[in-house]
Amino acid sequence: MADHALIGDVTYRIGRALDDQRLSEVPGLTSELAAIFVRHSRWEEAGLFAQLWQRGEAVEEIVRLEDEHRRLRRSLAAEGLANDVERLRQLLAELAHHAQVEDNDLFPFAMQQLPDACWTELATASVA
Ligand SMILES: [Fe+2]
Repeated sequence: MADHALIGDVTYRIGRALDDQRLSEVPGLTSELAAIFVRHSRWEEAGLFAQLWQRGEAVEEIVRLEDEHRRLRRSLAAEGLANDVERLRQLLAELAHHAQVEDNDLFPFAMQQLPDACWTELATASVA
């Protein structure tokens, strides 16, 4: 969830840069967001999602969220995204919605389902 706060912060900064017509800042921030999202989504998939999957929990939701991860990673890496303001704003909204679903639905569910040992393992895990 800390990563979601970071993603939310960069998303907000992109929105402000667009609102304030500071367009020269948008490509760098968009690249930053794409890199954070790649790292974060792969961490979720290899960690939290894998833990739930192994226990047969929330399997359909995980398949759906992983599809969304792939689509968001592809869209964030698309050439010219930073210059397509309408598409970028739409993508930022999709990203915010995705994080909201995980924060409000999946993570609370996982907190109930996974034993403490899993959370310790997840907290120290990193993705190569
Ligand atoms: Fe996610």
